[in-house]
Amino acid sequence: MSRDAWAGTDVLSILDFSRADIETLLKEASTFADNPKSAKKSLKDEIVATAFFEPSTRTRLSFSAAALRLGAKVIDLSPDVSSVLKGESLADTIRMLDGYSDLIVIRHPSEGAALLASEVATVPVINGGDGSQHHPSQAMLDLFTVKRLMGRIDGLNYAVVGDIRYARSAASLLYGLSKFKPGSVHLISPESLRPRDEVRDTLLKLGLKTDQLANLDDVIADVDVIYLTRIQKERFPDPNEYEKVKGSYRITKSSLARAKKGSIVLHALPRTNELAYEVDSLPSAAYMKQARFGVPVRMALLDLVLGGSTR
Ligand code: CP
Repeated sequence: MSRDAWAGTDVLSILDFSRADIETLLKEASTFADNPKSAKKSLKDEIVATAFFEPSTRTRLSFSAAALRLGAKVIDLSPDVSSVLKGESLADTIRMLDGYSDLIVIRHPSEGAALLASEVATVPVINGGDGSQHHPSQAMLDLFTVKRLMGRIDGLNYAVVGDIRYARSAASLLYGLSKFKPGSVHLISPESLRPRDEVRDTLLKLGLKTDQLANLDDVIADVDVIYLTRIQKERFPDPNEYEKVKGSYRITKSSLARAKKGSIVLHALPRTNELAYEVDSLPSAAYMKQARFGVPVRMALLDLVLGGSTR
């Protein structure tokens, strides 16, 4: 996909994009990351609407910051003070935003909500995370972080650790990695948090080879990127199942003692107790940088989809 071909595209899943598409995005994001404040106000005539039906700090605010950096205006739905509370349907809510804005970023607990929004809206829709599988802009910024900090995505060894069943950041990263040529990809989780069949089947179809382990320690000395996830308490259908696995793994300074030199630790955040605060002082702690890269990556995404720099 060339730059021009991004214009007007819905961004529902990273699966819809090729390696070349992603590389175009990462290249543009790199320019914005070098100097976000000096970016041309390429979207000064645009309005971006955010509609978040689930809590968010990073995705909502970094999309807003990205839009503002490019000169766009931002309107925010705030479901808890909107007519959603009066029972307005998702489709009608999206129809309203479609009339008031040039692009909609949606987050929703139900998988398929972003697809529904894209079918109703005439403006492009970006999925800011729906259900347990798709969070495309998170995967794009995760790949950007790896490229930026490690110099490449191919050939590295990855460990995705924790809740691979419900964490959409994990599934989306794996889908993103399937477009590249990683050295190895280890999935490390309790048995009940292994990928769901639909994710495993998609990875198989895409040809991404993974292995399933219970302990990070078995591979930590060979891994370049440790991608931690929070156990997604809110997505467990049965609270008893959450109780069984909560606290089943935790990364601390001592658990990283045997980590490969030059390796990095990523986490989409927010963290709970799976990632000790003491890790923050290690050179390998890259998750705060990762969160900051959300702005340049989403600047690139908005600019490409709204065709800002091609005008
Ligand atoms: N990484 C991420 O999606 O964070 P938020 O839930 O705060 O947006």
